[in-house]
Amino acid sequence: MKHLLKLSDLTKKEILSLLNLADQLKYEHKHGIPHSLLKGKTLGMIFQKSSTRTRVSFEAGMYQLGGYAMFLSSNDLQIGRGEPVEDTARTLSRYIDGIMIRTFEQKEVESLAEYGNIPVINGLTDFAHPCQVLADLMTVREYKNRLDGLKLCYIGDGNNMANSLTVGGLKVGMKVSLAIPKGYEPDEKVLAFAESHSDFELLHEPMVAATNADVVITDVWASMGMEKEQEQRIADFKGYQVNRELMAVAKPDAMVMHCLPAHREEEITTEIFEKHAKEIFDEAENRLHAQKAVLVKLMG
Ligand code: CP
Ligand code: NVA
Repeated sequence: MKHLLKLSDLTKKEILSLLNLADQLKYEHKHGIPHSLLKGKTLGMIFQKSSTRTRVSFEAGMYQLGGYAMFLSSNDLQIGRGEPVEDTARTLSRYIDGIMIRTFEQKEVESLAEYGNIPVINGLTDFAHPCQVLADLMTVREYKNRLDGLKLCYIGDGNNMANSLTVGGLKVGMKVSLAIPKGYEPDEKVLAFAESHSDFELLHEPMVAATNADVVITDVWASMGMEKEQEQRIADFKGYQVNRELMAVAKPDAMVMHCLPAHREEEITTEIFEKHAKEIFDEAENRLHAQKAVLVKLMG
């Protein structure tokens, strides 16, 4: 494993090995056992979109590993004035040991990896959010003690989260059931991968998708960069909400997760959000531990 660009690049074994390392680093962190595994290493973090969790967890994670994280806003970099990503990659490779990037196009992340000679981590693109889904799988395993055979249900937009959850969930042996409005389906490449699995279904009925689910996950109806479509999406996504009625058909002990930020009373009701807040914020916490595992594997 040289980069973390998207989960389809990883084998099941690589994903599970990252989760095992994440569990170990979490244990060490909680027990005050030092793990300066990246002493003297620098991570550059390029952000072309807003972030709370990704930015803070990567920065804190690098510090806890004995390294340094540099926040690089694209407004301040020459990239914001049109310098090609290929040149940015070759320049940064001369100074630092790894790059985390949050941007729009997946192609940009792939180009950084191709032209630079340091590890590149995808901190969210319009196509994928692999760091989030590693944290999600880690959280499910913490609560359920396994992943294999569990039913993961995702309700909402066929966006970066739907893409990465589908690939990640299927890779680790989960059943993946999506309820997505017509016209908002996940990426074609993801569907091509998923449709070869008998444990995958793409539906338009949330109640069917959620039936007997072990884990119910949702995400915002309008992702970053799609704010202009907000009104249209509110109309198109009506009924694709995680609420009390939907949870009544899931398993009685079903978890609810959300990558955050959440829009209450849109994709999830306040009632269900607060009822499952422990899981949702454990999920947010696990971004830290899962990403530290990624950083150690790639830069250690
Ligand atoms: N879930 C997530 O990636 O959060 P941020 O946008 O705050 O980084
Ligand atoms: N789908 C959301 C996820 C935010 C973490 C977005 O891309 O804005």
